[in-house]
Amino acid sequence: MARLLTHPTIDWKEDGTPVAREAGDVYFTAGDGLAETRAVFLQGCGLPEAWVGRDQFTVAETGFGTGLNFLALCELWQAHRPAPAAWLHFVSFEGFPLTPADAMQALAAWPELSALAGRLLADWPEPIRSVHHLVWPDLGVTLTLHLGDIHDTLPASRFMADAWFLDGFSPAKNEEMWAADLYGLIAERSQPGATIGTFTVAGAVRRGLAEAGFDVAKAPGHGRKRQRLEARLAQPPAPKPDIYGLRALPAPARKIAVLGAGVAGASAANALTERGAAVTVFDPVGSASGASGNPLALLMPRLDAGDTVQARLLIDAYLAARRTYAGMIGGHETSVRQMPRDEAERTRFAKLLADPPLPLEDLEAISGGGLLHKRALILEPARIIADLLESVPVQIGPVDVSLEARMVNGEAFDAIVLATAMETNRQLDWINLEGRLGQVDSVAGAAPVEADVMASGHYALALGDQRLWGAT
Ligand SMILES: C[S@@+](CC[C@H](N)C(=O)[O-])C[C@H]1O[C@@H](n2cnc3c(N)ncnc32)[C@H](O)[C@@H]1O
Repeated sequence: MARLLTHPTIDWKEDGTPVAREAGDVYFTAGDGLAETRAVFLQGCGLPEAWVGRDQFTVAETGFGTGLNFLALCELWQAHRPAPAAWLHFVSFEGFPLTPADAMQALAAWPELSALAGRLLADWPEPIRSVHHLVWPDLGVTLTLHLGDIHDTLPASRFMADAWFLDGFSPAKNEEMWAADLYGLIAERSQPGATIGTFTVAGAVRRGLAEAGFDVAKAPGHGRKRQRLEARLAQPPAPKPDIYGLRALPAPARKIAVLGAGVAGASAANALTERGAAVTVFDPVGSASGASGNPLALLMPRLDAGDTVQARLLIDAYLAARRTYAGMIGGHETSVRQMPRDEAERTRFAKLLADPPLPLEDLEAISGGGLLHKRALILEPARIIADLLESVPVQIGPVDVSLEARMVNGEAFDAIVLATAMETNRQLDWINLEGRLGQVDSVAGAAPVEADVMASGHYALALGDQRLWGAT
C-alpha cells in the first residue's frame, strides 16, 4: 500500500456533472445535486429537527467527495443553529481526495454555497494518509476528515454520531464502501436512535443495516430515483469495554486555567477559546519567557521510514501546526535542505523517497541523498504567542495553584491545563520529568536575506538580518 493517496481522474459531463473515471460513477448530478443532498441526506436524517435543543451534534459520512453534503449541512446549521454556542461536528471518510482544482470546478455549480465553499477550498486536504481537521468557530462547526481507505480509518476512528450520510458510489460500482463489515462499525459509532440517510435501497445494504441493529425503511426517492432509504438505530450494540474512558467524556469544561504562556500554553488557550471556553492564562514571568523565548524556531516534518501510527501522528501534527501558523505574521514560509548526517540516515531518506508520505509540493529529493522540505516555516515564537493570545486574558505574576481544589490564585476552574515544561514536576511530583538542555546561538544585524534553513541533525536558520544555530 503506497503511503500517498491517489487523486481520482475526473471526467466532466457536458452539463458539468463530475464523474470518477476509475469508479465509473458520478459524485452528484449537476443541476440537481444540491436538491438531492437536501432530500436524501438532510431530510432523510430528520434535520434540522433532530438537533433542536442540542448543544453538540455529530454527523458522520462515508465518502467526502466534493464536500457538497458537508457544505449543504453547514448552510442548514447556519440557518437553524440550535443555540448560539452549539457545535456541529462533521466526521467524514475519503480514500481518493479530489485535487483542489477539481473540487473547485465541482463546487462552482452551487453559487449559493460559494462563501462556505471558498473556506473549505482554502484548506483543501492534500492526498496524505492523515486526519484533516478544520474548526470554524464563527459557525460552530468542526470537520474531521479521515483520509485513507475506510477499512483502515473507520476502525481507528473515535466518535459517536447522531446521524449518518452513507454516500459511497453506487454499491454495484463501489462494493468496498458498502462491505458487510462496515455496518457493525457504523452501529458502534452511533448514539441510540441515530438516523441514517442514503440514496440506495440495495438489498445487501438493507440487510447489513438491519443486522447491525437499525430499523430500515424505504422512502420516496428524489427526482428520477424511485426510492431511498432511511434508518434509525433501534438496538445499539452491546458497548465494548471503554478502556480509555473515551465514551464517558465529562461535560465539556467551560472555565479553564492554562498555566504557562509559551507556545504550548498559548496554543491550548487559543484552541479552547475558539471552541467557546472561558480561558485565563497564568504565567509568573511573562509570555514567551521559557524555551519559547528563543528568537526563532523551525517547523519542519519529522518523517519516519515506516508507515506506523506514530509516523502518521507526527505528520498530522506537522500539517495542523503549519495550517495554524501559516497566516500569522510570525510565520515565514521557507524550504529546508536536510542532508543525511550518517549512513543510517542516508538509508532512511532513500527509503522515505521510494515511498514518500508527503506529496511533491512538500518533499523532494536533492543531490547528496538529502531531502528538500518545502513549505516549512521559520517562526518568531514571541509574535506567534502574541497572536494566539490576542483575545485571551493573561495574568502575569505569582501563580498560586491547588490542583485538587482546581483553584488558581483563589479562583475556581473546571479544568487546569499544565503547559509549564519542567515546572510541571512541582505540581505533579510523581510525573518525574527529566529535562534535556538544548543549545542555541543567535545574532542579529547580518546582511538581510530571504528565509532559509539547512538541517542535518543540527540546524541553521536565516531570516532577514537574523541568524540562529541550534542543536535540538
Ligand atoms: C458519491 S461520492 C461522495 C460524494 C460526496 N458525499 C459529496 O458530497 O460530494 C463517493 C466517495 O466515496 C469515496 N470512496 C470510494 N471508495 C472508498 C474507500 N474504500 N474508502 C474511502 N473512500 C472511498 C470516493 O472516492 C468518493 O469520493
